[in-house]
Amino acid sequence: MHKPMRKALVNVNGQFLANPDDPAITVYDRSFMYGDSIYEVIRTYSGKSFGLDLHLDRLKRSAELGYFKLPHKMAYYAAECERTIKGYYERFGTDLDVYCRIVLSRGAGSIGFSSAKAKGSELYAIIVQPLQWPDEATVLKGVSIAIAGRDSINTKALSREIKSGNYLSHILGFIEAEERGYSDAIFLNSEGFLSEGTTFNIFYVKNGILCTPKLESGILHGITRKMILDLAPTLGLETREVWMRTHHLLEADEIFLSSSTKEIWPINRVEKRVYFTKDCPPWTAKIRTTLHQRILRSLGTYP
Ligand SMILES: Cc1ncc(COP(=O)(O)O)c(C=O)c1O
Repeated sequence: MHKPMRKALVNVNGQFLANPDDPAITVYDRSFMYGDSIYEVIRTYSGKSFGLDLHLDRLKRSAELGYFKLPHKMAYYAAECERTIKGYYERFGTDLDVYCRIVLSRGAGSIGFSSAKAKGSELYAIIVQPLQWPDEATVLKGVSIAIAGRDSINTKALSREIKSGNYLSHILGFIEAEERGYSDAIFLNSEGFLSEGTTFNIFYVKNGILCTPKLESGILHGITRKMILDLAPTLGLETREVWMRTHHLLEADEIFLSSSTKEIWPINRVEKRVYFTKDCPPWTAKIRTTLHQRILRSLGTYP
């Protein structure tokens, strides 16, 4: 059966693929074999990428901690992201904001863990496609979240400063939440503290104080999380990075999630606890609007 071509532009080691689904990576690539890759995701606003420098700083850190020997400097990868975004807009028009994912693989060798086997075959792939999120009214209704029945990634096994392509535990948590009728999942760490969601950081507001799990809880060092912690005091909200227990979340007034592509999404329910049924709660709405305005302002696109 003929499938319509995906609306996306894919760049593999500097070459734009004619068709995004074209085979371009060998099955011996370690990203495929072992999840031996690191990655970042950014998005555009009115055609302009946001926070690329911050994401590439984190990518650099992931590379250092993951012993990746990269053949290029970060400025090269940044330029390649921008070139692929531009290529996408030239091909498909500028009507939509895009999602841009850059994946760096340690490369391909013969089967086996030694990185020497893959030396010289390091690979990067950049995928640019439309941002596919629900419309604003749907987002404001909130998402429902399950507490996963499995731990988040153990930081003694894998530093959460590494944004790696190895998401199996988070994927399993997501599938299990979906099967239970929830939109997504959050995780406890091995000490029983709440850490993060499958692809997002978490926050709650209680009595005018904004709380989020400490970095030591085993969370990805979220770029949006940091922006929110910086801006909240300007709105008169005290912030705290905490060891978060499940009961703290369930007793909170409002909770929300954050990520670079979603910004802030309100959460309407965690397990059986319902936070709101109609309007997005006030602090969440306020922080959400302010964050969005700040981003647009920094790009010079806010009126
Ligand atoms: C596990 C996890 N936590 C948090 C985040 C949010 O991070 P950021 O705000 O830097 O996008 C992500 C984003 O991909 C993630 O995968």
